[in-house]
Amino acid sequence: MKIRDVEFTEFISEAEISAKVSQLASEINRHYADRSPVFLPVLNGAFMFAADLIKHIEVPCKVSFVKFASYEGLTSTGQLKSLIGLDESLFKQDVIVVEDIVDTGLTLEKIIAELESLGTRSVEVVTLLRKKTAREKNISVRFTGFDIDDEFVLGYGLDYDGLGRNHRQLFRAVRP
Ligand code: IMP
Repeated sequence: MKIRDVEFTEFISEAEISAKVSQLASEINRHYADRSPVFLPVLNGAFMFAADLIKHIEVPCKVSFVKFASYEGLTSTGQLKSLIGLDESLFKQDVIVVEDIVDTGLTLEKIIAELESLGTRSVEVVTLLRKKTAREKNISVRFTGFDIDDEFVLGYGLDYDGLGRNHRQLFRAVRP
C-alpha cells in the first residue's frame, strides 16, 4: 500500500490486535475490580483503540476525550501545544490515559503533569504500541499492547500526514 510517497506493508493483523485488546481489557478489569475509572483517550490517534478496548471493560467507568490543540502557540519548538478537554471533574478520580503509541514520551509527560495538578487520585497509562525510545527512557506505562522497534506505523487510528487512520490492521513503513 502506498500513501503519498511512502510504501507501507502489513505489520500486525486485525486478529492479533483484537486478541491483544481483549487481553489488555482483562488486565484493566482485574486491576480496577473495585474502582470506577475514567478513561481519557488522546485524540486523534487513540480513537479506534479506545472504542474497541472500552467495549470489553466490565467495571463501571466514564470516558472523556482529550486533544492537543493544533496551533503551536507562541513557541517555535512545537512542544507547548495546549491540551484541551481536561477539567476539575477529574479531581480524586482514577484516570486511565489511553494512547495509540508512545514514542519519546513527551506527550504523556505533559498529560500526566497536568492531570496530577488537577488532584487526580491515580493516573495509569494504557497504550497499544510502545516504541524502543520509550523503553530506553523508562517512560512509565502500566498496560502495553505491543513493544515495537523505532519504525513508523500507520492504521488502526494512526496516521501518516492525516491519512490511513481507517485501516483495521497496522502497517509499517518500508525503508527504501
Ligand atoms: P511522543 O510524544 O513522542 O511519545 O509521541 C506520541 C504521539 O506521536 C502519538 O500519540 C502519535 O500521535 C504520534 N506518533 C508517534 N509515532 C508514530 C508513528 O509511528 N505513526 C503515527 N503516529 C506516531
